[in-house]
Amino acid sequence: MHVAALVLAAGRGERLRQTLPKAFVLLAGKPMLLHTLAALAAVPEVDRVQPVVAARDLPRLDALAAELGGIPKIAPAVAGGVERQDSVRAGLAALPREISLVAVHDAARPCVSQESVSRVIAAAERSGAAILAMPVADTIKRVRDGRIVETPQRSECYAAQTPQVFRVEVLREALEKAHAEGRVGTDDAHAVEWLGVPVEVVEGDRRNLKVTRPEDIPIAERLLLARSKS
Ligand code: CTP
Ligand code: MG
Repeated sequence: MHVAALVLAAGRGERLRQTLPKAFVLLAGKPMLLHTLAALAAVPEVDRVQPVVAARDLPRLDALAAELGGIPKIAPAVAGGVERQDSVRAGLAALPREISLVAVHDAARPCVSQESVSRVIAAAERSGAAILAMPVADTIKRVRDGRIVETPQRSECYAAQTPQVFRVEVLREALEKAHAEGRVGTDDAHAVEWLGVPVEVVEGDRRNLKVTRPEDIPIAERLLLARSKS
């Protein structure tokens, strides 16, 4: 056994504005988290799938025991933390020793394809660190106080997705350092970049959207239904 997927589901989902916590919102009749866990468990290179949920939501997950029982490779959930980075650290702490590579994935990306997960894992197996990302269609502006301060070359701009895959000890070191220095990154690669470790970019898939706002729900449902038919 050597590859684990951490599935991060401990956020509040404030922008989604639903009564249920985001990971438990139903998509095509099933909680989002179950779709995401099943998608990762279906990847042949993934040996273990580790859910990370908010402490207050652990009972909600327990209530899904019957459905979880049908998904292979699933480890018992652990409680996440206040910041996403804290949730990743909690998930890493729960991994067995024999895990050498970890794929960190947002529960909020239930439509990820098996094929792109396999590709980013293969890249990280070679290089030690790789993420999925998409070239941006729009021109990106760096803006401060309502004014443009810079326009980076569009051909150099990518939108980061997950999974982001690292050698376990590299990610552990990166997050411990970020934590000790009080720095909070907006993704996992960010902390690894601070260590000075090169991170490879693997082109992902537009369908791997992050369910963030209410209008994303019907799009994700269409993608999940299309996948279940193919
Ligand atoms: N996440 C987490 N622990 C946190 C914060 C976020 O595990 N402390 C997870 C979320 O559950 C989500 C993923 O990180 O699957 C990406 O975060 P995002 O899409 O921002 O989700 P939320 O933080 O839940 O949503 P919002 O920012 O709208 O509150
Ligand atoms: Mg968030």
